[in-house]
Amino acid sequence: MLVEKLENLKQEILAEIDKVDYSLRKTLTEIRVKVFGKSGHLTMFSKGMRELSAEERPKVGSLINSVRNAIEERLTAKEKEFENLELNERLEREKVDITEPSKGVLKGAYHPILDVTDKLMDICVSLGFSVVEGPEVESDYYNFEAMNIPKNHPSRDMQDTFFINDNILLRSQTSAVQAREMETRKPPFKIICPGKTYRNDSDSTHSPVFHQLEGLVIDENVSMADLKSMLTNLMKRLYGEDTTIRFRPSFFPFTEPSIEVDVSCPSCHGKGCTTCKGTGMLELLGAGIVNPKVLEMSGIDSKKYRGFAFGFGLDRTAMILNSINNIRYLYRNDIRFLNQMK
Ligand code: PHE
Repeated sequence: MLVEKLENLKQEILAEIDKVDYSLRKTLTEIRVKVFGKSGHLTMFSKGMRELSAEERPKVGSLINSVRNAIEERLTAKEKEFENLELNERLEREKVDITEPSKGVLKGAYHPILDVTDKLMDICVSLGFSVVEGPEVESDYYNFEAMNIPKNHPSRDMQDTFFINDNILLRSQTSAVQAREMETRKPPFKIICPGKTYRNDSDSTHSPVFHQLEGLVIDENVSMADLKSMLTNLMKRLYGEDTTIRFRPSFFPFTEPSIEVDVSCPSCHGKGCTTCKGTGMLELLGAGIVNPKVLEMSGIDSKKYRGFAFGFGLDRTAMILNSINNIRYLYRNDIRFLNQMK
């Protein structure tokens, strides 16, 4: 009887296992519990052994074992088969197509202002200038007074300045570094100072934050001819050999005489276009022979030494070199704009 029951159980369970297909693979675990679990069929048979006679016990015992082994073997085989299928399915799903072309790496570009600053610095360094820096939050003294612009002097109106208090301001010109350098250096020296400057001014060609590059040369026999030849050299190297340069008389309290420098428009080569508003020329910088009063205020003997200074607008230079018609493009950080600058 018992033998028969066991044999039936075996056939029944094996058939059940065989019927399980991949989509129902979880039921294998259920079968496992049903047969081998705490109150599973085979467990119950084992428990029932107690009631058997000593004679029957080994026979039934070995039969239970063989049934257990047969079921176990079939279950394991089936589980293994499903595991393989599952693995293949995953490999298929997670396959990487190594032949697919890459999306490419986004390349950076120099910001136009950094680019012209670098170019100008390279040219000036090759002409023997040292590069210096100065504070953007500056004292009234260095920004104005030491530049021969006393308090309440009308020429302060040339620059609409951001004051922080009576004596501290955001520098309105890199000329503020001139006095700082003259106080600490022994002539002769040649320095340039690129950096940010600030004025309360905002339209398509003016931004409250902008950039200048200041130059200062102090030596014994410095003349207007030196200044003109140096600037001509610099402009031709920046804008090309065929550039023409125009010097116009001007006024700055810290230089005497003062000049303003124009270059022929690189877009139309002097013929007149929208970049130069039809004039063929573009105004680029202020310059001049350092006012002896400025030298004296900073402790330089104006009988022995003379100097020349110049100040470039870098934003304007960047706009001209890249045909940019609105200064705001330089400050928007639009990646599409920067991409065009490559
Ligand atoms: N600091 C002047 C300006 O910002 C430019 C300048 C610099 C002029 C040096 C003469 C000499 O307008």
